[in-house]
Amino acid sequence: MSDLQSTLPTIGILGAGKVGTVLSRLLLAAGYPVHIAGSGSPAKISLIIDVLAPGAVAMTAADVARTSDIVILALPLGKYRSIPADLLEGKLVVDAMNYWWEVDGIRDDLNDPRVSTSELIQSFLPTSRVVKAYNHMGYHDLDEGPTPAGTPGRKAIGIAGDDDLALSDVAALVDASGFDPVLVGSLRDSIALQPGSELFGANFTASGVQDALTRFPTTERGLEVAAAREQEIAA
Ligand SMILES: NC(=O)c1ccc[n+]([C@@H]2O[C@H](COP(=O)([O-])OP(=O)(O)OC[C@H]3O[C@@H](n4cnc5c(N)ncnc54)[C@H](OP(=O)(O)O)[C@@H]3O)[C@@H](O)[C@H]2O)c1
Repeated sequence: MSDLQSTLPTIGILGAGKVGTVLSRLLLAAGYPVHIAGSGSPAKISLIIDVLAPGAVAMTAADVARTSDIVILALPLGKYRSIPADLLEGKLVVDAMNYWWEVDGIRDDLNDPRVSTSELIQSFLPTSRVVKAYNHMGYHDLDEGPTPAGTPGRKAIGIAGDDDLALSDVAALVDASGFDPVLVGSLRDSIALQPGSELFGANFTASGVQDALTRFPTTERGLEVAAAREQEIAA
């Protein structure tokens, strides 16, 4: 192990599907140790990991939560209550999840314009430091997009959170994985990264992400969110 590797935090990934395996590859390439889990036993994902993310260590979700410094949530949002919350106490947790009704079913609680889904995750993990990141870019673009810092046209990932130190740690992670981090705001503001926004699915540079964020309040979704939140305050 190099000196660099030994000083980097261990990244845990909950979810060994399309996004979980792509993020594993990106972070392994950046030198981070990666621990990864699906919903079941490590044996169930070991072949997938050997092929798609060689070098990552397959574990149970509980062991990933226990042994990792930073844990990325890359499982279906509708299953968030199966996350081992007690083992994530005090940890930095990166929420890459989205509400997708075809997968999650019709869930009004996950589709409320007043509350971002990362705020829900923060409520479920009250002592963890939750940062939204890696959710808005499709996994193919994540896979094909990484470039070194300073590369012209480098693609960007929006990040949002309520804890400045956690945000700066996630910004460093995003940068190391090959993308420019763009600060979107608080967890409440992360609704601008969710499905229904221009940024959801976006594969933009930092200035493109910034421009889309500036437009968000005037878009149909931005107006819907603002109206729902104003009604809540008035009630
Ligand atoms: N696909 C994209 O382009 C994309 C891009 C950005 C973000 N996202 C978001 O990332 C999340 C994952 O999407 P995906 O496309 O990667 O889904 P996917 O390919 O269906 O993979 C989901 C993974 O989550 C695992 N899982 C389910 N419950 C779990 C639990 N309690 N603990 C640990 N792992 C669990 C599944 O394991 P089993 O197979 O054992 O159930 C599977 O390995 C979603 O919230 C999605 O919205 C997706």
